Amino acid sequence: MVSVVERWKAAGTDGRAQQAAAEDDAQGLAGARIDIHGVSHWFGHGNERLQVLDDVDLNVAPGEFVALLGPSGCGKSTLLRLVAGLDQPAAGAILQDGTPITEPDPSRIVVFQDPTLYPWRRVWDNVALGLQAQGILAQQRHRVDDALRRVGLENFARAFPHQLSGGMAQRVALARALVNEPRLLVLDEPLGKLDSLTRLAMQSDLAELWQRSRFSALLVTHDVEEALFLAQRVIVFSQRPARIAAELRVDLPYPRHRGDARLTALRHQALSHLGLDASW
Ligand SMILES: Nc1ncnc2c1ncn2[C@@H]1O[C@H](COP(=O)(O)OP(=O)(O)OP(=O)(O)O)[C@@H](O)[C@H]1O
Ligand SMILES: [Mg+2]
Repeated sequence: MVSVVERWKAAGTDGRAQQAAAEDDAQGLAGARIDIHGVSHWFGHGNERLQVLDDVDLNVAPGEFVALLGPSGCGKSTLLRLVAGLDQPAAGAILQDGTPITEPDPSRIVVFQDPTLYPWRRVWDNVALGLQAQGILAQQRHRVDDALRRVGLENFARAFPHQLSGGMAQRVALARALVNEPRLLVLDEPLGKLDSLTRLAMQSDLAELWQRSRFSALLVTHDVEEALFLAQRVIVFSQRPARIAAELRVDLPYPRHRGDARLTALRHQALSHLGLDASW
């Protein structure tokens, strides 16, 4: 299979990215701005109360790619759920383009670690779900084909999920998100279950998709290299309740080179903020 990256390179990614950006801007589809103001969150009551987020302040600029790193159980997924509108923060506020987020919205799409495809629906029909739910599938069928092309799976439109590899299933999950033309893509360890080689390939593809599509991205990952390879800013959280312990700016152009000495230096910084000795 020719990778998404190769096909875009062949097509002249720069020119197409600029064109896509111009089209998106013209349609008002550029990435969302997210403002997280003084957000604290807890579960339960009284003695049972578990504080998970502690006064988190974070902004995502339109079109920015921000990654979140932190110890297991510190509250990263909880923060993503709040941003997605699946829950309301106990204190503080979260705004999208200045408007409080109060419920889920198709402009913000979440991709989880597990692709959760419907096994009885073909790939095409899985990707079509969002448009079907909005009642616009009949007029917008080309968007499903386009989303499948963007993840390099146009030849698998008729396949069932059980006929796909893990990486391909995760690509379908990405296509299912992209078909909605999200203004914010919320990614909760989306590559966490893939083998390491597929994961590296998908990281490159994700970077290309983001560059071309212009959405803002908020990625949770346990993988320090992945965060630094993909994001323009990496936020490191403390142990629960999560507070922002550090913010690393990754001021490197794309595509990035994994062997870049500046990435290695940032990796050491990130690991030390996570309380890990980075001597290996
Ligand atoms: N609905 C809930 N009710 C009660 N406690 C919850 C709920 N959701 C999460 N928690 C608790 O909140 C804490 C943070 O969970 P969260 O899933 O946000 O962590 P995380 O940083 O995403 O961890 P991981 O890296 O392991 O995915 C955990 O202690 C978890 O048990
Ligand atoms: Mg989590």
